[in-house]
Amino acid sequence: MLNKKKSFKLAKFYNWLIFSLVNPRIKLLIDKYANGIILDIGCGEKPYRNFTLNSGIKHIGIDHIESLHNRLHVDVVSNAYGLPFKENTFNFILCTYVLEHLEEPAKSIKEALRVLKSNAYAVYVVPFFWHLHEEPRDFFRYSIHGLQYLFEKNGFVVVDIIPVSGFIVTFTQEMCYYLLRFRAGGIFNPLWWLIPPFLLFIQLVSYFLNKIDHSTEFSIEYIAVVRKR
Ligand SMILES: C[S@@+](CC[C@H](N)C(=O)[O-])C[C@H]1O[C@@H](n2cnc3c(N)ncnc32)[C@H](O)[C@@H]1O
Repeated sequence: MLNKKKSFKLAKFYNWLIFSLVNPRIKLLIDKYANGIILDIGCGEKPYRNFTLNSGIKHIGIDHIESLHNRLHVDVVSNAYGLPFKENTFNFILCTYVLEHLEEPAKSIKEALRVLKSNAYAVYVVPFFWHLHEEPRDFFRYSIHGLQYLFEKNGFVVVDIIPVSGFIVTFTQEMCYYLLRFRAGGIFNPLWWLIPPFLLFIQLVSYFLNKIDHSTEFSIEYIAVVRKR
């Protein structure tokens, strides 16, 4: 039995901040736009699977053979560039933190458009300021304008591109990842104990400061809501 905690599996003591800002928004968008069958492209460990539990929605996750994640929740092993589904199959597409890992993002967006039904929505979560990860398959960062161009150019209607934060969150979140390196050496290193409470404290302060920080030109990432005509 999956539990609620597992749907927030991504949130650890060093990245609670970003996921506490993004996860509730994803949940709202799924509740608003998803029904029928949804496709989670590059699902990894399918961290949002519990958002669709008991909703009657069928949540299908695809990921490619080279995934570095546990494949327990991958339903179909497939590349984002060639989805093994007929056109107009899905009522909703979710694609979180994947676009930056695709060397041919346009090709994957066209493929998502093909398998999505007309008037159905897709939600992409895409970093703008984020350190290198899952190397060497980490290719791009996207601005709000780049995302608008990419989705329109490849046939989607852009409904909204939501900046997730201002400068304070971006700075704090990246500092948390940076400070992790000083925990090296394990429990005999005093910083191993001291860093987690410090990170939790600065994230909590930043979470509240984000409410009055409108410097969205520094947004750590964007949530793009797009629709097929
Ligand atoms: C940062 S992880 C995000 C995973 C998940 N969407 C999440 O939000 O936790 C990036 C995912 O994209 C997948 N990926 C990268 N290139 C891909 C490709 N060409 N086709 C399908 N999946 C791909 C990776 O295997 C990985 O699971």
